[in-house]
Amino acid sequence: MSAPTRTKPDAKPDRSSRRDPATQPAPATKADAPRRERVFSGIQPSGNIHIGNYLGAMRHFVADQDQFDNIFCIVDLHAITVPQDPAELRAATRELAAMYFAVGLDPERSNVFVQSHIAAHAELAWILGCITTLGQLNRMTQFKVKAGEERDEASAGLFTYPVLMAADILLYQADAVPVGDDQRQHVELTRDLAERFNYRFGETFKVPRPLIREVGARIMALDDPAKKMSKSGGEVSYLALTDAADVVRKKIARATTDSERTIVFDEKRPGIYNLLTIYELLGTQSRAEIEAEFAGKGYKEFKAALGDQIIAALEPIQRRYATFQADPAELDRLLAAGAERVRPIAAATLAAAKRGVGLA
Ligand code: TYM
Repeated sequence: MSAPTRTKPDAKPDRSSRRDPATQPAPATKADAPRRERVFSGIQPSGNIHIGNYLGAMRHFVADQDQFDNIFCIVDLHAITVPQDPAELRAATRELAAMYFAVGLDPERSNVFVQSHIAAHAELAWILGCITTLGQLNRMTQFKVKAGEERDEASAGLFTYPVLMAADILLYQADAVPVGDDQRQHVELTRDLAERFNYRFGETFKVPRPLIREVGARIMALDDPAKKMSKSGGEVSYLALTDAADVVRKKIARATTDSERTIVFDEKRPGIYNLLTIYELLGTQSRAEIEAEFAGKGYKEFKAALGDQIIAALEPIQRRYATFQADPAELDRLLAAGAERVRPIAAATLAAAKRGVGLA
């Protein structure tokens, strides 16, 4: 592989160059199968997977399983960028594995594994960190939000978090990254780092595209529709996929709406718009049909119908979740198998990156 001329190392990378087939990893599944596009995504094992994670990301992982070559990660190294209780982290890692399978990922068609089980993530993150500028990291809005006022108290890991995320994606030569809207900036940084690396050291990484859906990519907090739903919000701000029926009804009943009466999709009314979006995504009706169904009805009736719909959607997920949770040995076996299948892809990419930089 010949490196491009390095007269202007920081000039705009040449986007027209093609990947060297020598660094093309083998498909994760059958060696002779035509290569499908590959998706990579990850979720933090920080407890309480919520309906925003499901509607913005997980549900698409499941729906598109046959279309893609699928790699999904439990990003425990990302989780420790903020303080974690070790026992809780261990439990949350298995819980997320159980949830991945409970929402419908098929271990035969999707590779699910734990980030820290493949050391190449941390190694590539170091290499990529050495071509990332402080300016780029300073522009990351999620760091600003998570670090808050106490910026100097935040960990260096939280600051370099997006570099590790870029390593996750680039290691597997992913074509696309299905995520919610809050991860868009991180995927853009990943693309920048891939292009910069390829320009400086020769074609090594595929430049991935974000896969962000138009509807559901940003589900808002139930108690404050100006904020996105998140695990760190208060109890009544999110709906966990494990919430019992009575908890779902209570949270929906308390969800913030407005003082108007009509039940219509109007983005200027973020509370009711958010609830209607959840109703739309969990059901089969069009927006017009939903508006017709609730014409002349009040928020109370709509909220009751929404509660029923959420409970019906969660019921089969919770049933499968309980089955997986009851068999931790099987979960560990599935995670180990997932890691073994994808490990060679990560190893090939890391080796190519090290060669490119001059480390091997
Ligand atoms: P995390 O664990 O915060 O969220 C997991 C996925 O859920 C999406 N999401 C939402 N979608 C819609 N509405 C919401 N309110 C909402 N909240 C979260 C997120 O966009 C994400 O897709 N940095 C990532 C994890 C990660 C990753 C990766 C993702 C690490 N490496 C590589 C993709 C590729 C994160 O913290 O997601």
